[in-house]
Amino acid sequence: MSATESSSLAIQVKGLQKSFEELEVLRGVDLDVAAGSVLALLGANGSGKTTIVRILCTLLKADGGTARVNGFDVVTESVKVRESISLTGQFAAVDEILTGRENLVLVARLRHLSSPGRIAEDLLERFALADAADRRVATYSGGMRRRLDIAMSLIGDPPVIVLDEPTTGLDPQARIKVWEAIEELAGQGTTVLLTTQYLEEAERLADRIAILHQGRIIVNGTLAELKALLPPAEVEYVEKQPTLEDVFLAIVGDDGAGRPTALTGAPAASTPDAGIN
Ligand SMILES: Nc1ncnc2c1ncn2[C@@H]1O[C@H](COP(=O)(O)OP(=O)(O)OP(=O)(O)O)[C@@H](O)[C@H]1O
Ligand SMILES: [Mg+2]
Repeated sequence: MSATESSSLAIQVKGLQKSFEELEVLRGVDLDVAAGSVLALLGANGSGKTTIVRILCTLLKADGGTARVNGFDVVTESVKVRESISLTGQFAAVDEILTGRENLVLVARLRHLSSPGRIAEDLLERFALADAADRRVATYSGGMRRRLDIAMSLIGDPPVIVLDEPTTGLDPQARIKVWEAIEELAGQGTTVLLTTQYLEEAERLADRIAILHQGRIIVNGTLAELKALLPPAEVEYVEKQPTLEDVFLAIVGDDGAGRPTALTGAPAASTPDAGIN
């Protein structure tokens, strides 16, 4: 890869390995995310999505392989990595004793930003939390905490944002608010890596979709590329296009030999960029 190509990658993961005692979770994960793009990482429960996220955010050390964020190595340049990346974890990390506004102001102060009050006000409005702004977070619903958590991660405009299941447990309206916020970020050129169980979310937000299965990225492509991996749509009375859910289930549903079922007969030549491993 040329220097120009690698500098346009906000996230570069090569051969990443991680085991927890006997359990091999990551067995050589390769994953690139172009700067300014949105990548959705899909995978079953326990497939290792959060493990990848924690390694990228310098919260966990890999056993092998390399990972770079914004050009910085997660092990040798961890301080630079932490300055470049912001994480909204799978479980909300808000301070319950403080109000929503106080949580936001605190983060803005910690990041040495001018006018923390104005930043907090703006985010409270954007995430529909203005009415609850001055209540303790202990009284918030799960969805409100989640929204506050995401709002906190946007403070300081980090170039790379990682959202680990950002909309799990949100009601449809709250989910749409989060989607709009992510679309706005993407529109401003922020790189977004999101993990999700909702295929509809990946379809709506992601430029590329990667599927983690049995410790490796088994597919990485655009939605169109993923759909092309399935056999041509069956013609009944109307042509039925496969949904991303069909693709996901076909790929992850084993054929018993550990090979993704949908890919065994897939015409590789017709999908040159889909990166089937
Ligand atoms: N600190 C740890 N110690 C031992 N095992 C762990 C640890 N962290 C994760 N694991 C195991 O590694 C596997 C991958 O976990 P991980 O949280 O990365 O999955 P995930 O894809 O994020 O799942 P989910 O969709 O449920 O969030 C699981 O089997 C989990 O139990
Ligand atoms: Mg997880």
